[in-house]
Amino acid sequence: MEKHVSMNGKKILMVGFGGIGPAVLPLVLRHIDIKPEQINIISAENRNQNLAEREGVRFEQLTLDEHNYKDILTQRLEKGDVLLNLAVDVNSLDLIQLCQKLGVVYVDTSIERWKSQKHIPAMLYERRELVMKHQDQFKDGPTALLCHGANPGFVSHLAKQAVLDIARKEKGADFPVPTTREAWAALAKELQVVAMHVAERDTQLTSKPRGADEYVNTWSVDGFLEEASEFTGFSWGTHEVDLPEHLVRMREDTDRCRAIELSKMGGGIEVKSWVPSGVYNGYVIPHTEAFSLAEYFNCKDDGNFYHPTVHYVYRPCDEAAKSMLDALDKNVIYPEHKRLLLDDVTEGMDELGILILRANNPEVYWLGSRLGVDEARSLVKNNNATSLQVAIGVLSGLILAIANPMEGLVEAEGLDFKRAIEIAKPYLGDFRGHFATWPEAEAPAWTFAELAVSLD
Ligand SMILES: NC(=O)c1ccc[n+]([C@@H]2O[C@H](COP(=O)([O-])OP(=O)(O)OC[C@H]3O[C@@H](n4cnc5c(N)ncnc54)[C@H](O)[C@@H]3O)[C@@H](O)[C@H]2O)c1
Repeated sequence: MEKHVSMNGKKILMVGFGGIGPAVLPLVLRHIDIKPEQINIISAENRNQNLAEREGVRFEQLTLDEHNYKDILTQRLEKGDVLLNLAVDVNSLDLIQLCQKLGVVYVDTSIERWKSQKHIPAMLYERRELVMKHQDQFKDGPTALLCHGANPGFVSHLAKQAVLDIARKEKGADFPVPTTREAWAALAKELQVVAMHVAERDTQLTSKPRGADEYVNTWSVDGFLEEASEFTGFSWGTHEVDLPEHLVRMREDTDRCRAIELSKMGGGIEVKSWVPSGVYNGYVIPHTEAFSLAEYFNCKDDGNFYHPTVHYVYRPCDEAAKSMLDALDKNVIYPEHKRLLLDDVTEGMDELGILILRANNPEVYWLGSRLGVDEARSLVKNNNATSLQVAIGVLSGLILAIANPMEGLVEAEGLDFKRAIEIAKPYLGDFRGHFATWPEAEAPAWTFAELAVSLD
């Protein structure tokens, strides 16, 4: 198997080894030139310790918190190492700041806070700003790649490729790849892209239905319930029409992004979207790519501000959807009994991609991965279809961060999208673009209100 990059004798420290950690580890050993002895794992529970040790990787059961993280991590990291944060309750910014001091490359998959900070309400847009405002300060420092799983993360590469695919369909196959952020934004504006959905439909089925008070998902139960129980926030494209005021909780307008937070939880609001298996209803779960993509594609030609609406439209697998609705109903965010749907998944696939919607145009374009659970398992052990899409997103980010170790604080949009897709493609199942005609309206305006299933 091709080694994409070498650690040159340096170490990788993984924090967290729940669903995604064991899914990524075989890929790291397969595609990075590193020996098992150069990988250490620390995790709050001993769950999956056997999987790490079977690979010859050292595992320590340790819980990081705001008081002990500096000591624990400083003892285990040195200049040139990599810290991969795959834990749900470990503060991303604190770890990034420490890594900058230690000369360590950092990669994570979502912006996390310490458990003790989670009761503090803060709009996701602000939580991302709180980290990203350090971009200048860290610009000459080691690479700190924020939020690089499947989504947030890999879907931002798909968004660029999708915009390029549409341009090449309309303007000719030799249309050049834009080389600056401004050129990408101008192209999206010219193509009249008004909305981008991170469109995901998971149809995996389990042979072990959930028990009473048991909460399940095909990836982190805690991570998902936390997101689903937040007020939904996303970027409010410049084509949108105002919503009734009682539905809007907060707005944040900067010269890069118009962000909105609705007075409904992510798991309580459904929107129509499209994946190759057809139109579906999905939940508008708050995610940071909603803001990073809108900011990337913003432009201000002729004094007119433009960016698309961007948000996630997630249809979890049936058992996870039932579990989420039950949790929200009972106000259970950190359940005692939870289960990752993994070896018990019997059939189904995860369709995950970017859906591009253009003004007054019923043609939609979806680019992404349709990965069946059997194929996922045959490609990489310890996986279901969802986890492999995330794991390959993590691996592609990790490889690009190791290959470019002095880029400072970056998000997916700042990386080489072609290289990321090239690395991931062998693991994405049926990966291609689909043009289709939206079945429900001849000239849709693609506003949020038009696509929402119910706004009451
Ligand atoms: N960007 C994406 O596409 C994407 C997709 C799935 C998951 N994620 C994120 O990836 C992370 C991991 O997801 P998962 O499905 O493996 O989650 P999980 O809940 O299955 O596992 C979390 C792991 O973190 C460990 N942990 C929690 N608190 C800790 C602490 N204080 N110190 C040390 N370890 C701690 C747990 O012991 C566990 O091993 C989460 O942050 C999740 O939100 C991102």
